[in-house]
Amino acid sequence: MIYQGNAITVARGTGNGGEDIAMLTFDLKGESINKLSSAVVAELDEAVQAIRAENGLKGLVIGSGKEAFIVGADITEFHGIFEKGEAYLVEMNLKVHEIFNAIEDLPFPTVTAINGLALGGGCEVTLTTDFRVMGDKAKIGLPETKLGILPGWGGCVRLPRLIGSDNAVEWIAGGGENRADAALKVGAVDAVVPNEQLEAAALDILARANAGELDYQARRAEKTGPLKLNAIEQMMAFETAKGYVAGKAGPHYPAPIEAIKVIQKGAGEERARAQAIEAKAFAKLAMTDVCYNLVGLFLNDQVVKKKAGKYEKQAKAVKQTAVLGAGIMGGGIAYQSASKGTPILMKDIKEEAIELGLKESRKLFAKQVERGKLSTGQMAEKLTLIRPTLSYGDFGHVDLVVEAVVENPKVKDAVLTEVEGLVSEDTILTSNTSTISITRLAQNLKRPENFCGMHFFNPVHRMPLVEVIRGEKTGDAAVAATVAYARAMGKTPIVVNDCPGFLVNRVLFPYFGGFSLLVEQGADFQRVDKVMEKFGWPMGPAYLLDVVGMDTAVHANEVMAEGFPDRMARDAKSAIQVMVENERLGQKNAKGFYAYEEDKKGKPKKVSDEQAHALVKQVVQQEKEFSDEDIIARMMVPLCLETVRCLEDGIVETPAEADMALIYGIGFPPFRGGALRYIDAMGVAEFVKLADGLAEELGPLYAPTDKLRRMAESGERFYSTQAQG
Ligand SMILES: NC(=O)c1ccc[n+]([C@@H]2O[C@H](COP(=O)([O-])OP(=O)(O)OC[C@H]3O[C@@H](n4cnc5c(N)ncnc54)[C@H](O)[C@@H]3O)[C@@H](O)[C@H]2O)c1
Repeated sequence: MIYQGNAITVARGTGNGGEDIAMLTFDLKGESINKLSSAVVAELDEAVQAIRAENGLKGLVIGSGKEAFIVGADITEFHGIFEKGEAYLVEMNLKVHEIFNAIEDLPFPTVTAINGLALGGGCEVTLTTDFRVMGDKAKIGLPETKLGILPGWGGCVRLPRLIGSDNAVEWIAGGGENRADAALKVGAVDAVVPNEQLEAAALDILARANAGELDYQARRAEKTGPLKLNAIEQMMAFETAKGYVAGKAGPHYPAPIEAIKVIQKGAGEERARAQAIEAKAFAKLAMTDVCYNLVGLFLNDQVVKKKAGKYEKQAKAVKQTAVLGAGIMGGGIAYQSASKGTPILMKDIKEEAIELGLKESRKLFAKQVERGKLSTGQMAEKLTLIRPTLSYGDFGHVDLVVEAVVENPKVKDAVLTEVEGLVSEDTILTSNTSTISITRLAQNLKRPENFCGMHFFNPVHRMPLVEVIRGEKTGDAAVAATVAYARAMGKTPIVVNDCPGFLVNRVLFPYFGGFSLLVEQGADFQRVDKVMEKFGWPMGPAYLLDVVGMDTAVHANEVMAEGFPDRMARDAKSAIQVMVENERLGQKNAKGFYAYEEDKKGKPKKVSDEQAHALVKQVVQQEKEFSDEDIIARMMVPLCLETVRCLEDGIVETPAEADMALIYGIGFPPFRGGALRYIDAMGVAEFVKLADGLAEELGPLYAPTDKLRRMAESGERFYSTQAQG
C-alpha cells in the first residue's frame, strides 16, 4: 500500500508487461458518492506526494470505488469557504493547481478510468492525467457556471487545450453533462468501453504509452502549453461565442461569459499563467450575490429532494393511475405520466374533451420525436400508456387518482364521492384544485385519510413543481404515494399544509395585490412589467395575469380575500376586475392587458393595446411617479411577507422548501434565490424598515409580522451561512 486515507487509497498494481504501477482509488468512507471536500483534496495532496516518493513506478491509474467517479467539489462547503474572501480563494485554488499539476507532471504515463459521473472538480481530476478511458454509461461535464462560478481547478485551462476552444466553451458555458460517445467524439476521452473492461483498457493505454506507441509527453506538452490558435482564429472563436452565450445566459448570469474570457485570456499563456488567470476570475465570481444564491439554490434543492426521498421510501407502489377530466390540466397530467412511464386512465364526460386531450399529448410527443428525443416507435408505445375512457370500468385497479375536473366545489364533491365508491380501499385520491380547501373537499369522503391535494402548474409538462397538500385528515400514506407519483413524473414535489391558495398562490396573489395598487396610483402596467422582467422574472405581472387568465385570477383573489380579509380584501375595483368586465380574459381570448397575435409558429405574441390602457384609466386614482426601485419594493414586499407568514403558520416547513416552491412554481428569479433569501440579502432589519414605510401608506398588505420584527432586532436570518435550509 502506497497510501491509505479516508477517501483515497493508492496501491501498487501490476501493468500489462509486469511493471509496477500505482492504482489511486477514490472511495470516500461512509458516503454513497465521491466528492472533493477540502479534506479529500488534502488527502489527494498526500497521496500524490506518496506516489512521487515511491521508486520504480511505471504508470498511474486513477479510478473510483463507487458507482459515480467523482460528482464534484463538496458544494455544502462553498458558502463557508467563499466567505473567507477573494484573496483566500485565489490561494486555495493555486494550492489545488499545485496538487493537480503534480499529477500532470509525474515521470510516467497516467490515465483515468471514468466509470460513472465525473462532474466539476471530478472532471478536472480526469484532465490532469495524460489519457482518459470512459465507461459507456458514464457522463462527464463542468457544471460550475450553473452555480455562478467557473471551473477553477484547471478546467478552463486544460479542456480547451484538449478538445479545442469552441468545444470547451460549449461544455463550460453550457454546463451540461456529456455522454461518453459525445466526449469521445470531441477528444475529451481516448476510449469508451463497457465498465467491466475499464481497467483492462486503462492498463492497455499505459502499456502502449510505455512502449512509445502513444506519445504521452506530446499530450502533456499540448495540455500545458499555449492554445494553438492564431490571433484571428481566437478573435473569431471567442467573440462569436461571447455574443451567443450572453444572449442565452442573460444579464443576470455573468459566469458563462467570464469563463469564456478566462479561456481567451489564458489562451496564449503557459500553464502557470493561465491557471493564475483562472484562479483570479474564480475568486471574483465566488464573491458575487448571484453565486451565493445559486449555490444556496443547489443546497435547497438537496433539502427538497431529501425530504421527497424520505416520503418515497414509505410509499406504496403507484403502478396504475387515473385522471378525471381531460382538459388543459388533465390532458397535461396524462401526457406527463405516460411520458415518464406510468400508465394512466384519462376519464372525461365528453368525447370531444378526450379527443382534445389526446391530440395535445400526441402533439407533445411528436415534438419529442422532432427533437430526436424519442423514436416514433417509442412515441407509439408511450401513447398506449394513456387509456381514454368515458366510464369508470377499470378504476378498481387504480393506485392513485388525480381529480382535474372543472373548478367547482359541487362538481368536485360529486366526482370525488363517486370515484371513492368505485376504487379499492387503499386507492389514494388527490385533487388538482387551485382554490378549494383540501380539508373541505375531504368532508364528504368516507376515507379522508386517503385524500390530499396534488397541485400541478400550467403547462404541466414544463412546470417542475407539484404542491402536495395535506388536509386536516390526510394520512402519511396518501402524502407518501402522491410524492412518489410526482417524482415518478419527473416533478419536484413539495409538501405543504392546507390554507387558501396553499403555498404558491397564497404568495402570488399579494404580489398581484401590489400590482393593482401600483396601477391605481398611476404606474403604467407595461412599465411595471418591464421593471420586473429586468429584475429577473420571466414575465411581468400584467403579462403573467394574461397567461393565468383574468377570470381565474379574480376568482382566486376572492378566495384569498375571504381567507385573509385583513390584508387581501379590498373595496376598490381593481384593473383585473375591469379586464374581466370587458371580457378581456387574457391569452385565452387573445385580449387582456395586452392583445395577442399569432406568430409564425402559431404561438401567441403579445402586443401593446391602447384599449387596455384606456380601460385601466378607470381605476387610476392618483398620478404618482415611481422609480424602478419603488416599483420593485411595492411588488416584492407583499410577496416576501406572505412567504414569511406561510413559514410562520407552518404551511411550509422550511425556508428551503418555500424558496424552491416559488422558483419552481412561479419562476421567481433563480439567481435571487427565493423570497426568504431575498430578505436575508437585504437584511431582515432593512426589509422591515422598507415594509413599515410602505405599510404606512398602503396598509396591512405591507405590514411585517411581529416575529419578523423580533428577527430584525436579534439579527436573525432565515438561512445560516451554511444555508442548509
Ligand atoms: N388551468 C390552470 O392553469 C390550472 C392550474 C392548476 C390547477 N388547475 C385546476 O385544475 C382543474 C382543471 O382545470 P382545467 O384548466 O384543466 O379545466 P378545463 O375546463 O380545461 O377541464 C376540465 C375538464 O373536466 C371535464 N369534466 C367536467 N366534469 C367532469 C366529470 N364529472 N368527470 C370527468 N370529467 C369532467 C370537462 O369536460 C373538462 O374537459 C381545476 O380544478 C383547476 O382549478 C388549473
